[in-house]
Amino acid sequence: MTQDTLQVTEAAPAAQGIQSFELRHPQGLPLQPFSAGSHIRVKTPSGMLRQYSLCNDPAETDRYRIAVKREDSGRGGSASMVDQLQPGDLLEVGLPENQFALDDRASRFLLIAGGIGITPMLSMAYQLNSEGRPYQLIYLSRDAQSTAFLEELRGPEFAGKVKVHHDQGDPARALDLWPLLEKPGSTNGLHLYCCGPTGLMDAVRDMSGHWPASAVHFESFGVDTRAQSDDQPFEVCIKSSGQRLSVPVGSSILQVLRDDGIAVPSSCESGTCGSCKTGLLEGQPDHRDLVLMEDEKASHIMVCVSRGQGSLLLDL
Ligand code: FES
Repeated sequence: MTQDTLQVTEAAPAAQGIQSFELRHPQGLPLQPFSAGSHIRVKTPSGMLRQYSLCNDPAETDRYRIAVKREDSGRGGSASMVDQLQPGDLLEVGLPENQFALDDRASRFLLIAGGIGITPMLSMAYQLNSEGRPYQLIYLSRDAQSTAFLEELRGPEFAGKVKVHHDQGDPARALDLWPLLEKPGSTNGLHLYCCGPTGLMDAVRDMSGHWPASAVHFESFGVDTRAQSDDQPFEVCIKSSGQRLSVPVGSSILQVLRDDGIAVPSSCESGTCGSCKTGLLEGQPDHRDLVLMEDEKASHIMVCVSRGQGSLLLDL
């Protein structure tokens, strides 16, 4: 990543288990501009790379704001951010990249955020306010304590545009999204944006299946785990047993190992947590994760998302 070193100028709880960080240039210089939906990669205090959405107003050129949820089951990247990072610390960050940008063709927006998925949506709400484009933001969370930026969203600039719903962790109390999604968008200028936990994204994906694909936008925080058009089958070889297993298109190494009864720890299964890191002894990997450091790539592979060519010898 093209890097910059920024300084943490503020660290504060945004909700239970979620810490918000403000980053500025150490010499007070303006930052690279960004648009709503952008993320930056951050080298966490643990040394692992993580990707965080920018959640401040894109009109601000002197600061970036990110919010980090402490993932207890992860490899320690987010925990090191929440537990160790203090105002004054320096952080290596990449330049903003945007794969979840607001579509210029849209005239109205339906934004659906779940949990920490509010981060890109908050930035979008600021940008849409500035541009005077209409939107509705639906923000789903367990309860008020776990809801980041609740006070901010109660500000007058968001009045009448934001609906917050708490389900108290009870699926029976989940908000019914069907009335919002029943009538497909696009021809009427409406575009749908969704970011949040896998369960929410899957539900919204199911309920918006009849929408034109161009009007539906998802941000998952992880890598796209769907098969790519140029994917090819390949083989993995298990060092301890000499077993050879083929990995077809549409299946992951992790899945193939699991189907064969070979246990590898996993958590996110989207290349972001680091749990499934496996030793690689030979072969040509196609790394698709967001966590391996450059100097680990020759000797390790994240088996939940990465693939290979020909045959990979795994240290299992
Ligand atoms: S399971 Fe999280 S990176 Fe593979």
